[in-house]
Amino acid sequence: MHKLAKIIALMIGLSILPWQAMAEGESVEDNWKSQCAKCHGADGKAKTKAGMKLKLKDYTKAEFQEAFTDEEVFDAIKDGVKKGEKFLMKPYAEKLSDEDINALVVYIRAMGE
Ligand code: HEC
Repeated sequence: MHKLAKIIALMIGLSILPWQAMAEGESVEDNWKSQCAKCHGADGKAKTKAGMKLKLKDYTKAEFQEAFTDEEVFDAIKDGVKKGEKFLMKPYAEKLSDEDINALVVYIRAMGE
């Protein structure tokens, strides 16, 4: 290949790379919207059909933010929420990485601000 063509190809490659990286990883907002919003609501207020039926908590409220530690929020998402033997919310350990779950904890926290 011509030297100049090589340099141009390299430059194009480098400028495309970051965009590919961004498109691949789901952002925390995408995860919330696709995995959680159906029940907990896009805004975390749980004013959805499923959220009202399940009597879910409003994550924008101080009562919720004060009642749950970061660890409790993390564990609830990773291991699910059980009542006796029955899952109220299924675990997300297989669907989401610890990193994704941590990002969701921060995302939920931000709803209370
Ligand atoms: C099918 C409906 C549904 C979906 C989807 C869902 N949840 Fe839940 N979630 C629940 C139910 C039901 C509970 C248990 C509420 C209770 O204890 O009364 C719960 C509990 C929780 C809790 C514990 C605190 C609380 O509200 O009691 C957290 C944190 C939570 N969910 C976060 C998430 C996140 C993050 C996602 C997406 C990755 C998600 N949920 C997806 C139904 C859902």
